[in-house]
Amino acid sequence: MAIREILKIGHPTLTRKAAPVESIDKEIIDLARDMVETLHAAPGVGLAAPQVDVGKRLIVVDMSVGEDPDSLIVLVNPELISQEGSVVCEEGCLSVPDVHEKVARPYRVVVRGLDLEGTAKDVEGEDLLARALCHEIDHLEGRLFIERLSPLKRALIKKKFRKQAKKNRPS
Ligand code: NI
Repeated sequence: MAIREILKIGHPTLTRKAAPVESIDKEIIDLARDMVETLHAAPGVGLAAPQVDVGKRLIVVDMSVGEDPDSLIVLVNPELISQEGSVVCEEGCLSVPDVHEKVARPYRVVVRGLDLEGTAKDVEGEDLLARALCHEIDHLEGRLFIERLSPLKRALIKKKFRKQAKKNRPS
């Protein structure tokens, strides 16, 4: 297992649509393990494969951040199959450090995917879990949560990160 680098806003992989996983081979299983370790180390509640520079449809969500093994969700090729209600709440992302903004998400969702054995699985989530699942599926579409903010807010956040990137570039 290994902790992988989490890409930050501005990296092209984060804005690309991820490809379906064709077979759950050793590479995918290793990737899932690394993603869980990376998520817990961050620490965070959700991570999508594009955030570690792999354009594959795989997400990990753990609302307990490693405290409760039963709350770990690993889903291959997840798909939102139903949603209900709407809640506005502050949200953040490991790829957009230090930014927390209010985003509307469904209150309740059902997400269908495969576990690492290749078995079909429906995951039901409410409130913060529903939010995390939707946020991670957005990543697979190449969409960061700031894409759901007003154009003005989004522009300000992008500008801030562009400035930071310039500052960090070696001269
Ligand atoms: Ni995120």
